[in-house]
Amino acid sequence: MNPYEQARVLHTYLLFHYAPREHIVAGSPLEAVAGSLDDAFFQFPTATVTEMFDLGRAPYDRALDLGCAVGRSTFELSKYAREVIGIDYSRTFIDAADALRCGRTLAYHRYTESHLAETLMTRVPDDAQPVATQFEVGDAMDLRDDLGHFDLVHAANLLCRLSEPARLLERLPDLVKPGGQLVLATPTTWLEDYTPREAQPPGPTLDYLRAGLESDFELIRVTDLPFLIREHARKFQLSTSQTSLWRRR
Ligand SMILES: C[S@@+](CC[C@H](N)C(=O)[O-])C[C@H]1O[C@@H](n2cnc3c(N)ncnc32)[C@H](O)[C@@H]1O
Repeated sequence: MNPYEQARVLHTYLLFHYAPREHIVAGSPLEAVAGSLDDAFFQFPTATVTEMFDLGRAPYDRALDLGCAVGRSTFELSKYAREVIGIDYSRTFIDAADALRCGRTLAYHRYTESHLAETLMTRVPDDAQPVATQFEVGDAMDLRDDLGHFDLVHAANLLCRLSEPARLLERLPDLVKPGGQLVLATPTTWLEDYTPREAQPPGPTLDYLRAGLESDFELIRVTDLPFLIREHARKFQLSTSQTSLWRRR
């Protein structure tokens, strides 16, 4: 089964995307040191938008969030564009994102141990623009032909979950308008469960992205953004994602 269709993973992503720091660490041994943890650990789904794109000319016309999961970055983009589309391969994730868009409050589980959970609630962020936002199920390697062109394209932690990432790279020049911006974030965790060895970058991921993109995009800057995902009270994943901003020539 696609892991991103599992209820447990849905709950993990709702906590990751929508809960404030105190809810993420609550009841965990990390709670005692939470004050010393960098704010950035808890801001990834918004930071890939606000820390990476040049948003000085907002509002833009159109933004696209590929591999949007439960939609936090999509809602963040809705503050800076008149129309935003979030696309994910997981029906479960898209249904949750769309329920939030429609104003529903969602109950989800925060795990205290691997087999024990408590219930939290979430709703769409107050400053999001749900009317400007739409979510749809789709495959980032086979996007519909009539998707059109975008001022801002965002794909966070998606590339190394694709079986053929090159197919997305090939489509990007068509998706991003001339002068438009592209943010690609990847923790560079290439796994054969998702990407066969022959479809993975042969060397450093950034070299692979440069080779695939530089005829159509200028690389503006690269930084590492951290993220902390709670699986349960005693198990957190701390990773960083190599995040690059590109401008379409
Ligand atoms: C590691 S999660 C990252 C989600 C989110 N962007 C974030 O940064 O938290 C990878 C996401 O990519 C989605 N995904 C995997 N393969 C996909 C594909 N072929 N097309 C679109 N989305 C895909 C998964 O369903 C999942 O939501």
